[in-house]
Amino acid sequence: MIMVPLRESVMIRPCSLCLAIAVSLVSSLIRAEDKPVQSKGLVDTPPVPSSRPFGKLPDGREATLYTLEVPGGWRATITDFGAIVTSFHVPPREDDPTGKPVDVVLGFDLLDGYVAVHPYFGAICGRCANRIARGEFVLAGKTYRLATNNGPNHLHGGLKGFDKKLWKATPKATDRGPALELELVSPDGDEGYPGRLVAKVVYTLTPSGEFIVEMSATTDEPTIVNLAHHSYWNLAGQASASIKDHELVVHADRYLPVDATSIPTGAFAPVEGTSFDFRPERKTPSRCFRAIETLPPNAPPGTPRGVDHAYVIRDWRPDGELRRAAVLRDPGSGRTLEILTDQPSIQVYMANFLDRSLTGKDGVVYGPNAAICLETQNFPDSIHHPDWPSVRLDPGQTYRHTMVHRFTR
Ligand code: GLA
Repeated sequence: MIMVPLRESVMIRPCSLCLAIAVSLVSSLIRAEDKPVQSKGLVDTPPVPSSRPFGKLPDGREATLYTLEVPGGWRATITDFGAIVTSFHVPPREDDPTGKPVDVVLGFDLLDGYVAVHPYFGAICGRCANRIARGEFVLAGKTYRLATNNGPNHLHGGLKGFDKKLWKATPKATDRGPALELELVSPDGDEGYPGRLVAKVVYTLTPSGEFIVEMSATTDEPTIVNLAHHSYWNLAGQASASIKDHELVVHADRYLPVDATSIPTGAFAPVEGTSFDFRPERKTPSRCFRAIETLPPNAPPGTPRGVDHAYVIRDWRPDGELRRAAVLRDPGSGRTLEILTDQPSIQVYMANFLDRSLTGKDGVVYGPNAAICLETQNFPDSIHHPDWPSVRLDPGQTYRHTMVHRFTR
């Protein structure tokens, strides 16, 4: 709370009106931490996200677009459809001649783009992000069959995953900054998954531009869950065509090789000596183009190039601690993005499948490697690897996943 020092000479004698005003001011500040209260004129009250209609879904329901903004100029827009981050603006540095903020995520101007088929731009993927081999699994003795929407496999929650659902949004002012809380009730049997899952995502923007994504879920029956945030980053700006020149550090010594259908083979292979090596110790920073120019092992001919693999985060333990996962840098602008997480893995995906068939914000046509996704999560296809960290969630347990995006401009 702001402390206004009063000089003795101007000390005001307490009177009942002053007390009443003071009490109501203090209580409104306390309320601001847990309720969406509009702040008006109080410098120290964190701003509440503003909102505007974002359009109608095919079933007639309205989607809303929320803006999280902090005084330094950092700004994120998020829609309750798919819990999608539609833009993220980094403010200009003092020496930037353009003086303009830059939008560093791919996406669409209108809701329609997100309702149509698209590769999960900015979305929360669930109930189980990434792939499940053959779209089936056994849990508590029962076999479950899911949609096979990626060749023979299940990907990112199925045909109507969490990226295609309308979440319930609550904008909040918190002491860390403006936040948007989103909740989704995924009924028993949703896309073939068992149990009624209540999923929650909280996006928070701090005054220094830290963008925090906190995901959680509970269930009333044994189920599986692995949520992932799927923003497509291009630190040179969403319109700048390619991340080939971006430098990348991944805090991982091993990665998960995959078969011809992108399912992990079960091995944890060393990155050393491969084009997957983005370790922090490398003397010269690794640029993305090295990997983009190399066809990964096992990739069938014709596979678009670039990394699309899970990395094993160094020193991971199931202790809920945040660890460094990756650092991305655009050498042109000097902008960097560091990602921290409590998850065991990060899927690095260099937008290999973008093929100029999608027109995004400001009419920009997105081609191969126009961005990079840095998706923290549990290992893909973990349900088929009993010795890997488990994706199983039982009643009474809470799934938790935090990822922090730290920017320098
Ligand atoms: C993920 C996968 C990729 C691709 C994209 C969406 O990140 O790893 O193979 O399916 O999503 O296009």
